[in-house]
Amino acid sequence: MADLLQITHPGSGTERELAITDATIRATELRQFVVEGGPLATYDPGYVNTASCRSSITYIDGDAGILEYRGYPIEQLAESASFLEVAWLLLNGELPNASQLAEWEQLITEHRMLPDKLKTVLAGFPYDAHPMTILMASTAAFYSFYPDAQNFTDPEARALNIARLIAKMPTLAAFAYRKGKAKPYIAPDDAYGYCHNFLAMLFKQAERRYHADERLIRAVEVLFILHADHEQNCSTSAVRSVASSGNDLYTCVSAGVGALHGPLHGGANEAVLKMLREIGTVERVPEFIEGVKAGRVRMMGFGHRVYKNYDPRARVIKKAVDDVFEITGVNPLLEVAQELEKYGLTDEYFVSRRLYPNVDFYSGLIYEALGFPPEMFTVLFAVPRTAGWAAQYQEFITDPEQKIARPKQIYTGYARRDYVPLDAR
Ligand code: SDX
Repeated sequence: MADLLQITHPGSGTERELAITDATIRATELRQFVVEGGPLATYDPGYVNTASCRSSITYIDGDAGILEYRGYPIEQLAESASFLEVAWLLLNGELPNASQLAEWEQLITEHRMLPDKLKTVLAGFPYDAHPMTILMASTAAFYSFYPDAQNFTDPEARALNIARLIAKMPTLAAFAYRKGKAKPYIAPDDAYGYCHNFLAMLFKQAERRYHADERLIRAVEVLFILHADHEQNCSTSAVRSVASSGNDLYTCVSAGVGALHGPLHGGANEAVLKMLREIGTVERVPEFIEGVKAGRVRMMGFGHRVYKNYDPRARVIKKAVDDVFEITGVNPLLEVAQELEKYGLTDEYFVSRRLYPNVDFYSGLIYEALGFPPEMFTVLFAVPRTAGWAAQYQEFITDPEQKIARPKQIYTGYARRDYVPLDAR
C-alpha cells in the first residue's frame, strides 16, 4: 500500500492525504491548505531538506559514509579505474568497454587545444588574478568559440561540447597557472594520458619530454576520480539552476566554477592549507580548537551537509597522502592536520555536531606536495568536477519534469506606501 501523510489544518478545517514517494511529498500539494497569508508553502534556507530533482548519477549515504557513482563504490573506482573511464560512466551510466574507452580517450585527446584567441582573454587578466576567476571567465568565453553548444537538445552537438569541455579544462587550468608564473604555455602532448598531460602542461620546463613518477600521476588520477561528482552540491545546483533558463553547457559550468570557488565549498582545500599554516605547530592546536568552539573560527575541511560520518573520499585521500609523501617527503603540516583530526574525532563539540573530515581536509597537503600553490587547489577540484557538472547538466536538460528555477520567498519588507518627494524627506 502506498505510504501517505495525513495533514489537518484546524484553522481552515482542511484535511488531506498526501502521497509519500521516495521519502518525499510534492511541495505543491501543500497549496491545498489555504492559511493566513495564502496557500501553504515550505521555507527551507539552503534547501537543507528539499529535493530539487530525480537523479541516477551519484548516490550518497551520509550516515554510513557511502559514495557511489552509477552504483559503483568510490573506493573501487579509485582503486581500479581511470578518470576518463569514470567520466564516461557518469555521462553514460555504464562503464565503457575497451573500444568505447579507446574512442573516448581519442576524442578527448583531439580536443585538448584551446582556441588561440582565448590566450588574448587570459592576457587581459592582471598577473596575480586568481586562477579560479580566470577559469570561470574563460569557461563562459568558450561559448563564443563554440556557439553550437546552444543546440543542447541535439545529442550529437551536446556530446561534442561535453567532450570539448572535459578535454579543455586541464589545458585552461594549466594555462591559468603558467600565466600566474609568467611562464610560456605548454601545448598538450598527445603522447600523454589525461593526467600525465595535465602535469606536463603545468610543470614542463626546458626538458624535451616531461617525466613524471607513475605514482604521482596515479595520485592525480585518484584525486580526479574522487572529485568527479557529488550529487546536488552547491556548484552542481548552480549549474542546474543556470541550465533551467535554457543556457548552453559553458555558461552553466562557468556558474558552477563560481559557486565552487567559495571557501565553504570547493575553496575549502585552499582555506585548509591557510589554516594549517596559521596554526603552524602541533603545540598551537589546542588554542585553535578553543577558537573553533568559541565560534571565532571554523575548522576548514571539517563538516559536511550530507556526511555525518567520515567522508569516504577523505579516507582514500589520506592513504594517497602517505603514497605521495613516500616520494616527495612528508609535509610538516601533516602532523598539525593529524592533531586537528584527533581533536575533531574526540572533542564533544565536533562529536555532538557529527563533524568529520571531508574531502578537502587532506587534499591540499597532496596538492602542495605535488608542487601546486594554494590558489590552484580549487582549480584542481574544478577540473575533474567538470565531468560531473556535464553529466548533471545533461540529466537536467533531458528531464521532462524540470522547469525554470524560481523559488518563492517570505516577504519581510514594508507594506505598501506612497512616494515621498525629495524636498519632503
Ligand atoms: C565540499 O555538498 C557537497 O557535496 C560539497 C562537496 C562536494 O564534493 O561537492 O562535498 C565539497 O564543499 C566539502 C565541504 C568543504 N567546506 C568546508 O570544509 C568548510 C567548513 N565546513 C563548513 O563550513 C560546514 O560544515 C559546511 C558548509 C560544509 C556544511 O554546513 P551546514 O551543513 O550548513 O552546517 P552548519 O553550517 O549549519 O553547521 C552545523 C553546526 C553549526 O554549529 P551550531 O550553530 O549548531 O552551534 O556545526 C558547526 C556550525 O557552526 N560547524 C562547524 C563546522 N562546520 C559546521 N564548526 C566548526 N568548524 C566547521 N568546519
